[in-house]
Amino acid sequence: MPPNQAMSHIQLPEGPTPYATLNGSGAALGDIEAGDVIELFKTHGALLLRDFAYDLAGFRAFTGQFCCRFVRNESGKREQVSADGTTQSVNLGREAFPLHPELSRVPWRPDIAWFACAQPPASRGETLVCDGVATAAGLDADTRAYLATRSVLYREETPLGAFTDWLGIPPPDDATLAALSVNSPFLFQRAEGRIFRSFTAPFLHRPLFTDQPAFGNFLLFARRMLRTRQFPLFEDGSLIADEICDEIARVSDGLTAAHRWRTGDILMLDNSRFMHGRNPVDDPDSRVIWTQFGYAAFLRADDPRREQPWRHTDDPRAIFFGLSPDSRAAAH
Ligand SMILES: [Fe+2]
Repeated sequence: MPPNQAMSHIQLPEGPTPYATLNGSGAALGDIEAGDVIELFKTHGALLLRDFAYDLAGFRAFTGQFCCRFVRNESGKREQVSADGTTQSVNLGREAFPLHPELSRVPWRPDIAWFACAQPPASRGETLVCDGVATAAGLDADTRAYLATRSVLYREETPLGAFTDWLGIPPPDDATLAALSVNSPFLFQRAEGRIFRSFTAPFLHRPLFTDQPAFGNFLLFARRMLRTRQFPLFEDGSLIADEICDEIARVSDGLTAAHRWRTGDILMLDNSRFMHGRNPVDDPDSRVIWTQFGYAAFLRADDPRREQPWRHTDDPRAIFFGLSPDSRAAAH
């Protein structure tokens, strides 16, 4: 089949379906024109690829066209699918998950979340998909205006031993922490004899490929799943009011589509714009979904985010501290 023929069945987002759908009618996944996928992805932020033929190697070759690097997700009960661990199962439990972007609680949030259905669940276990731009637009105008002035703070402890493990230095003093913070995405600070790392992000942020503000952070997962009100906080360390969280939950719930999986379905989500979650799973053994989380290889040439170290390396010293090999030696 000529490459573009596989693209002939395109359904744009409509009504309750927030993603564009490409139907391959059995064509090979590798026949899809990558440029067409990128354009649809940038415009709509979410794509469903349905009825394309592929195996694990084909899936990885396909996703590899769009990502310069993939990140492993160490959270939850996941199984390694590919030898290098960058293709993983989704969380293997039964519980429902509230809406969240992948890894929004760290500064190196990936750009693209891929989900590929090797075997659909016998019942329930739908993946939830919600557009963060639509969520922000759906908030009360006063709430949106207020949140546009606020940021969220992610602050957690860094074990003292981590600095020895990563940098080969003794537990750092305040001056060393300040120096380490200069090129790091984190601010390292000592409090009560412990060391905390923190970073902030706009409460309503600008996604990669649209100028419209989006909601998409760790808040709903923290409140509805982890039952914590301490992570994230507002940038000044104050609690995010329950009323704000409730309004966001109400608006996003109303915009959420529950995707019922068919074998071979691939969801490609702009993780800077879309949130995902899942309905409860009745029979986890029957639900086989592969995931990959990657950094887009198609950012504009002048996009400063291209320089972010996590787009180029697995090295935690470069990612946590922004250290190049030369400056790493100087930190010893
Ligand atoms: Fe997730």
